[in-house]
Amino acid sequence: MVKLADLGFRKGEIAETVVSTYNTDEKPNAAPIGVTINNSKQVALKLYTTSATYKNIATKKSAVINVTDNIEIFYRTAFKEFNPNGKVPKEWFQPAEKIEAPKLRNADATIEVSVLNITPIEEEQAMVLCKVIHINTTKKPPHVYCRAFGLTLEAIIHATRVKKFLSGTSDQKKQANKLLQTIEECSSIVKRVAPNSPYTKIMTNLDHMINGWRKENENLH
Ligand SMILES: Cc1cc2nc3c(=O)[nH]c(=O)nc-3n(C[C@H](O)[C@H](O)[C@H](O)COP(=O)(O)O)c2cc1C
Repeated sequence: MVKLADLGFRKGEIAETVVSTYNTDEKPNAAPIGVTINNSKQVALKLYTTSATYKNIATKKSAVINVTDNIEIFYRTAFKEFNPNGKVPKEWFQPAEKIEAPKLRNADATIEVSVLNITPIEEEQAMVLCKVIHINTTKKPPHVYCRAFGLTLEAIIHATRVKKFLSGTSDQKKQANKLLQTIEECSSIVKRVAPNSPYTKIMTNLDHMINGWRKENENLH
């Protein structure tokens, strides 16, 4: 079997992946999640307990960690509202082989895991320790690296926090403004290194979305 190390997982590093699970109504769900490894057979996920991913993992005790460098997959699983009908298309999924969870058809590799234990940590977060059950890889040719990938991913992850912080305490609003500054910096480089690309399109969509959240909050106050 292919090893976690073969896929680029290394101790002490957070790997950005997309985790897929079944909701309690058996519909598939996916969200970008950072994964760390404990050893060659164990991985850990630090999850917000408010997320659907956490609730699904706590119930079903299984998940698939999908490895991809497709920015569209990160974007549309982080912000489900940007999909037709507000949901990640069900055609994106197929059942995993060894566990009860869906996997992404277009993933470059899939890691099927089952939950060993769940430990509550800081407020609204829990550490989920999982055992690796099965790994599948595709034979995708190597890809060159474009700076726009990392910068767009950075902007997406910040944007998932901005919405919450903009409507929070004054300290959280300050944090939101710092994140917004970083998003702007990412955006200007993305537009320079990858104009007319899916990356630029996503950055433009994020801009519109953030402006919408700002207006919502102005109207509330
Ligand atoms: C690159 C990236 C990494 C993320 N890592 C995590 C993580 O490790 N834990 C977490 O709870 N949320 C993480 N998030 C935020 C979730 O993906 C986001 O809140 C998502 O909307 C949760 O969807 P769900 O409710 O369907 O689970 C990350 C987002 C991005 C873009």
